Amino acid sequence: MTRKFSKKVTDLDHPLIAFSDHPDDIWTVRDAVRGVQIFGGIGSGKTSGSGRALAMSFLRSGFGGIILTGKVDETELWIEYAKQTGRSKDLLIFSEQSKYRFNPLEYELTREGEGAGQTENLVALFTSLAKMGNRLNGGGAGSGDDPFWDMALQRLIKASIDLLKLSRQDITVANITKVIREAPTGQDYRNDYNQLVGLSSDGNEEAYNNLNEWANNSYTIYCMVWAENQELNKQDSTTLEVVKGYFLTDFAILAEKTRSSITEYFYAFASPFRSGLLAEYFAGTTSEEILPEVTFEGKIIVLDFPIKKYLQLGIYAQSIYKRLWQQAVERRDTKKYPVPVFMWVDESQYFLSEEDMMFQTTARSSRACTVMLSQNISNYYATIGGKHPQQRVNSLLGNLATKIFHANNDYVTNEWAANTIGKTFQIKTASSVSSQNDSISVSEALHFQVEPQEFTLLLSGSEVNDFDVEAYVTSAGKRWSNGANFIKAVFKQK
Ligand SMILES: Nc1ncnc2c1ncn2[C@@H]1O[C@H](COP(=O)(O)OP(=O)(O)OP(=O)(O)O)[C@@H](O)[C@H]1O
Ligand SMILES: [Mg+2]
Repeated sequence: MTRKFSKKVTDLDHPLIAFSDHPDDIWTVRDAVRGVQIFGGIGSGKTSGSGRALAMSFLRSGFGGIILTGKVDETELWIEYAKQTGRSKDLLIFSEQSKYRFNPLEYELTREGEGAGQTENLVALFTSLAKMGNRLNGGGAGSGDDPFWDMALQRLIKASIDLLKLSRQDITVANITKVIREAPTGQDYRNDYNQLVGLSSDGNEEAYNNLNEWANNSYTIYCMVWAENQELNKQDSTTLEVVKGYFLTDFAILAEKTRSSITEYFYAFASPFRSGLLAEYFAGTTSEEILPEVTFEGKIIVLDFPIKKYLQLGIYAQSIYKRLWQQAVERRDTKKYPVPVFMWVDESQYFLSEEDMMFQTTARSSRACTVMLSQNISNYYATIGGKHPQQRVNSLLGNLATKIFHANNDYVTNEWAANTIGKTFQIKTASSVSSQNDSISVSEALHFQVEPQEFTLLLSGSEVNDFDVEAYVTSAGKRWSNGANFIKAVFKQK
């Protein structure tokens, strides 16, 4: 039976890669939007073999997308891919040399779509960035999986953002830091504050002067007094009462040690945004040209802040963009923008986050093709960390339907690969010869379809292998022309 494949890239049946001439060995958009994980040792042909084939197929089909960079030569590679597929005009390179800027907060405040500028969404963005930053800083005060610190951080950020909003201040990392740094501490200030406000509005000059002086010394108080003097609607005055309760009482009377743990957690996140790369490129203005939404119309954005050059800041900067891009993709109306988009993540162990799991569960309906390339699965366990990393990594990988396994010497990955492809009942014969009698035994038992050691023997390209790169490919729920759930594929480097 032959299947008909659509020429239209907007159709899920549109073919991307043919692993053989047989129609069952065609890998389509439907497969791509279910996600791809490529594993293989160093120099096994991930980038130049399967990676190249997938990347070229996406570009040829007109997909837009984002590329996260690990190595410094990744950008060159995509410039070349774009040239070969006639997509050069769609390629945008966001780098230190470019004129582009992206401010995540400004974007979240002003973007199109539901929920833009809502405090809850800003808090979620901040908390997620803070956790990302904290993880990169190697833990730090009050970190870990204890929900107490997350809740405490969220309350602090929420109160700060609400206060800035009520007092019409810009919502920037710098201003949030200032609110937190200059908040009164050591006792409950609620009565003092209310008294001063009451008296000064009754015309008491001394109280007025005292309040002014307090506001001059504390940005937090300044914002509060400013908001107090406005005509607020019911909702805003309720919010102001909550914010006052938080800063004048709850936060003020926290034990010094607890409070500094929470604030340190925040400062660790905020400080990279105050100077250097993030301050320059990710805290100022936002360029229309590289908004996440442009990828829906076929633009391809390379986030050229490679980890090998920028280290942790490179991870941080790219992860911020990645998260907002994923959210934009989830909001996307696929009727209006039916062409799939892709996210390319080489050296993916550096970028892995819990949010990827959530994103992957909806990626199919939002037509987003995630491709992750990494050497081995142990790196993933280490990055995810926390409790039960194996379960969490397995659940993420379970959501990336296609797995491509290249040559590998990593024991854990090869075992995992063999288990993923699975076992079948196989008949094995064994013969024995002795002086008394010769015998042949036949036994049927469960055996790996691909034994772990077979992954050590795959060809990894270059001239010696005639530019052939081999890999085992498996895709959840797919039966290939050989009747099995996996296929041994050959990718040409040239
Ligand atoms: N275009 C090419 N032509 C010939 N050989 C190549 C080409 N590109 C890479 N190679 C060689 O092929 C092998 C596979 O390289 P590749 O970069 O694809 O591996 P990789 O799995 O991505 O490795 P890494 O984990 O280091 O990123 C290496 O020996 C490399 O030197
Ligand atoms: Mg590579």
